[in-house]
Amino acid sequence: MSEFSPEEVALFEQVVKSRRSVRGFLDRRVPEEVLRKVFEIARWSPSGTNVQPWHVCVASGSVRDEMRAEMMRRISSKVPIQTDHAPDGKVGDLYRERKRACARALYNAMDVAWEDKPARAAAYEKNYTLFDAPHAAFICMHGVFGTQTAADVGMFSQTLMLAMTANGIASCAQGTLRNYPDLVRETFALPEDMKVLYGISFGYEDTSAVANMARTERAAFEENFQFLG
Ligand SMILES: Cc1cc2nc3c(=O)[nH]c(=O)nc-3n(C[C@H](O)[C@H](O)[C@H](O)COP(=O)(O)O)c2cc1C
Repeated sequence: MSEFSPEEVALFEQVVKSRRSVRGFLDRRVPEEVLRKVFEIARWSPSGTNVQPWHVCVASGSVRDEMRAEMMRRISSKVPIQTDHAPDGKVGDLYRERKRACARALYNAMDVAWEDKPARAAAYEKNYTLFDAPHAAFICMHGVFGTQTAADVGMFSQTLMLAMTANGIASCAQGTLRNYPDLVRETFALPEDMKVLYGISFGYEDTSAVANMARTERAAFEENFQFLG
């Protein structure tokens, strides 16, 4: 028998389903005690042999302002991006269509036409503004770890975002925040072998931001799951 009541289980489902990527934030910091609380919850995430490989660097205030300005400067002056990890390979039709549907939902909400390449580029560049979030968490792990351990960091990140959701904090995971890892290492005085996987911008949702009208769907149940026996 579950140790949780049906109401508590329903609440869990509600937290999972109400987390979504938010791309427009209010200019309001998350209070220190709430910030610590969500990270305190997230650190109970599982990891292989309990290695707890996540190393998280949270930029707020003037640190956030300076990193944001520098990322925006680099992307607008076309400084080549240099990620610590190899990008994904070229995906087949099934995954390409899912990626397009996600982009379409966002561009529709922002009233950006698919054919309008400059508008699409501008929408992409907003990533580097942190969508105006007051905080950015750069999610790192040591360079000795590979994909197996990156999975642990993914579990940590979802726990973190759910803890944020439950506490009224909106978030957006951003692969784009892995693009200038040297800036993260320099800012947080990290050793060269600490690598950046991605970032999570977070804060309070600006419900008037059009990008926040976007909603994603999920593939049909049978597409992703197989049950045998
Ligand atoms: C690891 C990871 C990286 C992501 N990178 C970006 C990104 O760079 N920019 C962005 O706008 N959204 C990014 N997203 C958000 C996804 O587009 C989003 O999670 C997906 O479309 C599902 O929508 P939902 O989060 O609203 O449920 C990322 C999500 C994850 C998990």
